[in-house]
Amino acid sequence: MTAKPNILVIGTGGTIAGQGKAAVNTSAYLCSVLGIDEILDTLPQASALANLRSEQLLQTGSENFNNEHLLAIGKRVAEVLAQQDVDGVVITHGTDTIEETAYFLHLTLKSAKPVVVVGSMRPPSAMSSDASLNLYDAIAVAAHPSSHGIGTLVVANSEIHTARDVVKSNSFKLDAFRSPYGALGWVIEGVPHYYRRPARAHTLDTPWFPERLSRLPKVEIVYGYGSLETVAVEAIAANAHGLIFAGTGNGNIASHLLKPLRDAARHGVNVVRASRTGNGIVLRNGAQPDDEYGWLTVDDQIPQKARLLLMLALTQDADTNALQAVFTRY
Ligand code: DGL
Repeated sequence: MTAKPNILVIGTGGTIAGQGKAAVNTSAYLCSVLGIDEILDTLPQASALANLRSEQLLQTGSENFNNEHLLAIGKRVAEVLAQQDVDGVVITHGTDTIEETAYFLHLTLKSAKPVVVVGSMRPPSAMSSDASLNLYDAIAVAAHPSSHGIGTLVVANSEIHTARDVVKSNSFKLDAFRSPYGALGWVIEGVPHYYRRPARAHTLDTPWFPERLSRLPKVEIVYGYGSLETVAVEAIAANAHGLIFAGTGNGNIASHLLKPLRDAARHGVNVVRASRTGNGIVLRNGAQPDDEYGWLTVDDQIPQKARLLLMLALTQDADTNALQAVFTRY
């Protein structure tokens, strides 16, 4: 019999650490109140899967997470993954921005050891809470050899998603997490079953290391709609290194916004056309002449993931061609 793996569970808050007044409170409750040790105490079954250690890194709703929080999580996870007595890491996290923290780790960690980010849609106190099963599944995934070398994962609702693709797509249902090309696999009774692998570069195949990043450049997202005022775009562009424009459809931009966005690019802001549809490719030089305007386009990245990718790309000396290339490589 082989020894059980050593898994570190890092608590950061969220609904998985939440508590409601009554079991019917599936959506109205306090989040980030239970400590990670309290949560693990309610899950003795997990000790059959792994030797567990825990630490409380943060205790807040993930809607509060900013670039400094991302760096703090990245640096700590990088540090523990380098320890020989750590075989994998599980991070408990609010679901609101789970896809962003997970993608940041996926793009920066330099380890093949499994890292699983997990949350829940209902607090442990609610009827049919998904908290304990999601955490049990996340520990099972992190502890399993088949989870090595595939980057950061998000586990929820019995599904294993790659951090690159997953998005929270519902505000209250248990079945809230979607990947446009499907999950990588499922977890059943503590055993992961994989059916596909991530196709794009991640972790060991990227130039970014959390421990080498002291700060991230300022990249903003602007959500496009027909009455969006020019002054709003100008004000945001005036204070940014990059601007992801979440345009309608195939990254379309209302005519009156072309000037402020072209001016932004002339003044050195990296303007990226993305789509607010949440799905699909933005075709370069399709809806707009990107070459002529000096703009970039996403491939299929949703705006919040494009923001992370552009921030990382801007930490290096990169010309427009190199910046454009990251959207097809990662
Ligand atoms: N405040 C939200 C967050 O931490 C709670 C949502 C959740 O965890 O499901 O992201």
